[in-house]
Amino acid sequence: MKILVINGPNINLLGLREPAIYGKKSYAALVEYIQKSAAALELEVECFQSNHEGAIVDKIQAAYGVFDGIVINPAAYTHTSIAILDALKGIGLPAVEVHLSDINTRESFRRISYAGLACEISYVGLGFEGYKKALQYLKKRLS
Ligand code: DQA
Repeated sequence: MKILVINGPNINLLGLREPAIYGKKSYAALVEYIQKSAAALELEVECFQSNHEGAIVDKIQAAYGVFDGIVINPAAYTHTSIAILDALKGIGLPAVEVHLSDINTRESFRRISYAGLACEISYVGLGFEGYKKALQYLKKRLS
């Protein structure tokens, strides 16, 4: 089972950006955590991060026929990108939304998630653990 994990803009700044909200661990630490979690579940995983909406859309489109499921934290594009929503709907792979912080208890503009409309389940406010929960969900869902 091959899972694509997509992280959106500024997730590469983890550790530096607003540590009170996003924690002190780096993006490299997140990738290591995801790889270890996937290995424990006997899942193949690829991690992709981009600050560019179009690059994320291209990556989602290219996942069709290659991956079995998607875990996505679209970061700020969560709240703006109908293009990412349409791409997820377009390829129809099972997708799970993850946010490190709890988007429902922050500024009101973060409560809208377009990408979430194409996802089967969302894990928010759990930090790195949300990605593990997403992988566990997809493992069960695809088995
Ligand atoms: C985020 C929440 C978004 O609102 C924000 O723009 C991010 C990160 C999260 O993981 O908590 O960049 O997706």
